[in-house]
Amino acid sequence: MTFAIKPFAACLGAEIIGIDLAEPLPADDFARVHRAHLDHLIIVFRNQSLTPEQQIAFSRRFGPLDRHPSDQASLDGHPEILVVSTRKENGKYIGLPDAGPKWHSDLSYVKTPALGSMLYALEVPDHGGNTGFANMYDAYETLPGDLRAALDGRRAIFLPGRAQKGGADFKIGFSAEQKERVPPVAHPVFRTHPETRRKSVFANPQHTIGIEGMAESESEPLLQRLFEHCAQPRFTYRHKWRPGDMVFWDNRCALHIADLSRIGDPAYRRHMHRTTIMGDVPF
Ligand SMILES: [Fe+2]
Repeated sequence: MTFAIKPFAACLGAEIIGIDLAEPLPADDFARVHRAHLDHLIIVFRNQSLTPEQQIAFSRRFGPLDRHPSDQASLDGHPEILVVSTRKENGKYIGLPDAGPKWHSDLSYVKTPALGSMLYALEVPDHGGNTGFANMYDAYETLPGDLRAALDGRRAIFLPGRAQKGGADFKIGFSAEQKERVPPVAHPVFRTHPETRRKSVFANPQHTIGIEGMAESESEPLLQRLFEHCAQPRFTYRHKWRPGDMVFWDNRCALHIADLSRIGDPAYRRHMHRTTIMGDVPF
């Protein structure tokens, strides 16, 4: 198949032009797509028209799929698909309306965080609802020396939300019972990508609550400096969604953030299907 890989001007992201994801991808084409994902961290396929089965089939090419701990937000009959949506039925949201209000990596709070996530847009608003992505290889490589030295070799502690630490600053679609199913885990602050072998920042302001073996009075200022460093616009790309977009990001070396500025506005409608590819234990 003839297709093109067109990198964005930002320090991450590329559009793949000329692939219909509804069709099975030959092995050599898949190898190029896989390589593009490793090289650009985020790949974007526009103008797709996918059934849940087709999205699941393409996602599975990259590995087994994960199920989100918030299982009330999965698609009926397709537990592999997490519904990210502002739609309501009988007054209740049918999926997660506000997934990802801070910079984060999906499922970084479980033992084997996600390899990557694929988000397919079925309905998008005319404005707002963009998704920001940030290159954590670049963030790592430009860290101030003292910050890198203070955190090098350290493990961070992750939970579904920093709110669970007591400082509630956002809500997330977990019941108390579901939160109990997700105990704190520790991962390296700086992880090595299992395929590219490059190092990146993995701690993130949505899920990282502290540093193992360090008092909060010491860890919190370090984490705040780290998070500010990582969020600099020079490391980021902001995706303006169109219906039919399929965006696949690498959770091992990129953070992302949702723009929630229009949540609650009845005219704001956004409906997406996410599949999540299972990752391995960070090192
Ligand atoms: Fe997310």
